[in-house]
Amino acid sequence: MAHLTPQEMTIAARGALTGTVAVPGDKSISHRSLMLSALAVGTSRITGLLEGEDVLATAAAMRAMGAEIVREENGCWRVNGVGVGGLLQPQSALDMGNSGTSTRLLMGLVASHAITVTFTGDASLSKRPMARVIEPLSQMGTDITASPGGRLPLMVRGIVPAVPISYTLPVASAQVKSAVLLAGLNTPGVTRVIEPIATRDHSERMLAGFGAAISVEETAEGRIISLTGEAELKPQDITVPGDPSSAAFWAVAASIVPGSDITITNVGMNPTRTGLFAALRLMGADISELDSRTVGGEPVADLRVRHTPLSAIDVSPELTPSMIDEYPVLFVAAALADGRTIARGAHELRVKESDRIATMAEALSACGVAIDEFEDGLAITGTAGQPIAGGARIASKLDHRIAMSLAVAGLAARDPVTIDDVAPVATSYPGFFSSLDDLTQ
Ligand code: S3P
Repeated sequence: MAHLTPQEMTIAARGALTGTVAVPGDKSISHRSLMLSALAVGTSRITGLLEGEDVLATAAAMRAMGAEIVREENGCWRVNGVGVGGLLQPQSALDMGNSGTSTRLLMGLVASHAITVTFTGDASLSKRPMARVIEPLSQMGTDITASPGGRLPLMVRGIVPAVPISYTLPVASAQVKSAVLLAGLNTPGVTRVIEPIATRDHSERMLAGFGAAISVEETAEGRIISLTGEAELKPQDITVPGDPSSAAFWAVAASIVPGSDITITNVGMNPTRTGLFAALRLMGADISELDSRTVGGEPVADLRVRHTPLSAIDVSPELTPSMIDEYPVLFVAAALADGRTIARGAHELRVKESDRIATMAEALSACGVAIDEFEDGLAITGTAGQPIAGGARIASKLDHRIAMSLAVAGLAARDPVTIDDVAPVATSYPGFFSSLDDLTQ
């Protein structure tokens, strides 16, 4: 899955964005729909699956462990599951490419099956911390041997029966929460995760949809999620809503390029994911929600976004979990705002596909933006709507969201911005550049 040839791209300002764009399926929900369908007994159908490299890595892994997964001609995905407890020993190591979500969630699934699986990944994924999942899965009795620093490649020797645990998340991470819950599926008894700070809840929603015995309690110590194993999952027909994290690029682009007026259709509006839209609105952005509806158990709306001058804000750390993937593009919005935007309390950005604090500080500074870097965030002094200087060649560091954020920056720059490699965009948004062309025709 590693890209052998870097794809350099130069993005120059091209005027207003207008028209309508449909964003691809939600990445988090796509991963989970494949995993749970592969563990149900019978045939599930998934419509709107994100066909990006990260999700295809999950599909390949579930096939390697026995599920039948077929893309039908109409674009619907059919999955014949093996049943909880039925995962088979894969014949070779599972290559997770760039995908942290695939790796951490699948480590959870494997942890309570009687199989041994080696996980490998690309240069970016191989630098990312896995101790956060190794720790709770080891408590459940699983034996995990990782590379130095708790990194990939690593080997998970699953155990049956695993021991149910009650685990309080030390970092706000939906991946860690989901890994423990997925391990709990084939574990007798009640597996409990306590999250002091709420993170995206797609796993809980979808586990309930598949018929697992799961309950969520809001308490003074946080959300307590209890799952009773061993679960039997019933096959489902799932429609995956569009990804708010992908919509974020268009919402920022339309907000900062004068004259823009776009509609982004089918955007997932799960409140655990919409922090970026809230932050943009606090900056003065003109975003209206049209046709709010429910798709596949998730709230969805179309978003109309019109250009408007933005003002700097102090980004509340309370918004962090609901916009964790959107900081790079928020920093671009801040670069065009009037005043100094401060975003702190987001230390987790250091361990994403790249160190997103350092990468964005370097990239925006090279584009002439005044930046102060902190251990846990950035302060950005905006241009009050004037184009940023641009004229720089930026490293995307194998990080899809950095590449797309810098493309958005290029749209609001005096001189073009060159991105050294946009190939990683295919991990989450294969049609990004053709949608950009459509919106700027
Ligand atoms: C994800 C959770 C988040 C997010 C990632 C997808 C998920 O990671 O950054 O892109 O699907 O559960 P963390 O759990 O590490 O915050």
